[in-house]
Amino acid sequence: MAKLLIGSDHGGFDLKEFLKSYLKDEGYEVDDIGTNSKEACDYPDVANKMADYLSKDSENLGILICGTGLGMSMAINRYRNIRGALLYSPEEARLAREHNNANVAVLGARTFSNKENLDFLTAFLTAKFSNEERHKRRIDKIS
Ligand code: RB5
Repeated sequence: MAKLLIGSDHGGFDLKEFLKSYLKDEGYEVDDIGTNSKEACDYPDVANKMADYLSKDSENLGILICGTGLGMSMAINRYRNIRGALLYSPEEARLAREHNNANVAVLGARTFSNKENLDFLTAFLTAKFSNEERHKRRIDKIS
């Protein structure tokens, strides 16, 4: 099973703690890359750290959380090897894996409840890339 890396800024801290505990109970291996409190911090610092960690093992998946998910999405998608998907429904979360081979799930802690975000993340984590030629071609064109 792929290892999960999870990170947030202060706006996503509570959701990060909630998801981390749930995922560990479910048997996932989860590495928390911070932040470690609700003290204000800058989301690009966490996104940059995530990109660094993911570059070491392409099998791993990332989870990034900020208030809206917007800042984290912008920051993480600047990296060539990363496809970050801002999740807003279980269906879209599934397609982000099956069609786009997204390797980072981005969540908005202030825009959706913990339960909604957990549903999005579960759909993301239980889906797999379809490996279909047309999707591979499109993803290659992003890179
Ligand atoms: C922090 O206040 C907030 O700007 C951040 O969590 C995020 O929503 C940025 O996109």
